Amino acid sequence: MATKRQLQPRDALRLLAPGPLALVSSLYHDHPNLMTAGWLLPLGFEPTLVGLAIHPGRLTHEFVTKSEVFALNIPTADLMTAVHTCGTVSGREGDKFATAGLTPAEALEIEAPLVAECVAHLECGVVDRRSFGDHDLFVGRVLSVLALDEAFDGFWNVETDAGRLLHHLGADRYAGLGRAYKASPEELEG
Ligand SMILES: Cc1cc2nc3c(=O)[nH]c(=O)nc-3n(C[C@H](O)[C@H](O)[C@H](O)COP(=O)(O)O)c2cc1C
Repeated sequence: MATKRQLQPRDALRLLAPGPLALVSSLYHDHPNLMTAGWLLPLGFEPTLVGLAIHPGRLTHEFVTKSEVFALNIPTADLMTAVHTCGTVSGREGDKFATAGLTPAEALEIEAPLVAECVAHLECGVVDRRSFGDHDLFVGRVLSVLALDEAFDGFWNVETDAGRLLHHLGADRYAGLGRAYKASPEELEG
């Protein structure tokens, strides 16, 4: 896995600020799994909390419920095909790391593997789970955050390939974030 810098838990919220897709990794009884997720939500600074909505039918729902940990691995636009595979095939049909051509990497704080090809990773421990509708909201406390310097230096470098985040438009449509703007007064006057 490329060398990534360890950041503070609250950097997790800046990592999720532009609403990127994530690959959720989990592990149960030595069986790793991956699931694409778009329904992610920063929930608090101290402790640093993030929310993730998972449908009860997903294998990931079972693994995260039983293991009480998960990681959010942030992919860039070049991983679109693998992300789509992880969002359309269930881990019940086989090893999704192999199906999607992704590489497991050791996490710092949890047993579940990270996805080496992703540029940032949020390792989380489940502190609550609530049902509001047909998905359950898992609340994760951020235990460790890793990010590649070229991709994230306190802000996502969305104008470079290393930081081009992947977003979901619905069905099989995706978009890569490519422009950043600064709303400082001098920029607005200029
Ligand atoms: C772009 C995209 C975003 C998705 N976001 C979510 C999500 O936030 N929550 C969810 O439960 N399923 C989501 N899904 C569906 C799951 O990723 C999909 O059902 C997956 O096959 C579940 O895998 P599993 O059974 O191995 O856990 C999404 C799918 C795609 C393609």
